[in-house]
Amino acid sequence: MDKIFADNILQGKVAFVTGGATGITGGVARAFMEAGARLAITSRKEENLIAQKQFIEENGGECFAVVADVRDYAAVENAIAKTVEHYGKIDIVVNGAAGNFLCKAEELSANGFGTVVDIDTKGTFNVCRAAFEELKKSKGQILNISATLHYLATPMQIHVSAAKAGVDAITRNLSVEWGRHGIRVNGIAPGPIEDTEGMKRLLPPELKEKLTRRIPLQRFGRIVDIENAALFLTSDAASYINGITLVVDGGQWLLGTSFG
Ligand code: HXC
Repeated sequence: MDKIFADNILQGKVAFVTGGATGITGGVARAFMEAGARLAITSRKEENLIAQKQFIEENGGECFAVVADVRDYAAVENAIAKTVEHYGKIDIVVNGAAGNFLCKAEELSANGFGTVVDIDTKGTFNVCRAAFEELKKSKGQILNISATLHYLATPMQIHVSAAKAGVDAITRNLSVEWGRHGIRVNGIAPGPIEDTEGMKRLLPPELKEKLTRRIPLQRFGRIVDIENAALFLTSDAASYINGITLVVDGGQWLLGTSFG
């Protein structure tokens, strides 16, 4: 099954996507382009931005790329300002920039914990805060990518669990505070998605089959599954949905992460 939405569902919209060059949010950026949106993407890595910009433009889309580290508020403000200078507005913000590695809590340094919280949680706040005035003008919306790791508990992921719990809190708080401006704020919590940096970092290949058996739908997710959820939540089809984090995981979190 591929993309399920009409090609023009985001026609005329400008979408600002952090981590928009690769992985899940790279897919979301390409899906938004296919749905008619004009893209602004950020990443810390210029080479990734160049490749994604080229792909989008070769496929008939528009892509504005800015190198920015979401931990750096001044860099985020600059990326937002440059995007507005380029397109005149921002309608949709997707917070996808994230960091991850496996580490036992007792071996994790304070800086290791803080680095992931800075990228995921503080980075999400930074982008939302810097984009607020533009989103207020456009009655736009925010989509935050989190995870299900913190719903129960996930060994070797204390840093990311804490960081993503913070992202979910940001989604709920902003939906309440900014709803009156016509800004919708929602999230997606992906489960195990194949062909992503996250799975490469988190899942030793020999465990893939074992994990697949623990997913109620008996398969890994695909980036297109997240793309479809993102298209739905950012489209007018979801115009009364505000403050939710949609779990897209085949039911995986309900069985937990233990293989026992
Ligand atoms: C223990 C580690 C570590 C590791 C880094 N650190 N890697 N500790 N085990 N494998 C520690 C370092 O020792 C250091 O602490 C601190 O973290 C910062 O490390 P730096 O390398 O200086 O940080 P930086 O260059 O900013 O890189 C950030 C990063 C890196 C998060 C560490 O992995 C990164 O850039 N990741 C971006 C790409 C990514 O992770 N994508 C996957 C997202 S997947 P000390 O104390 O030594 O100074 C995802 C999915 C979640 O989010 C849900 C899945 C289901």
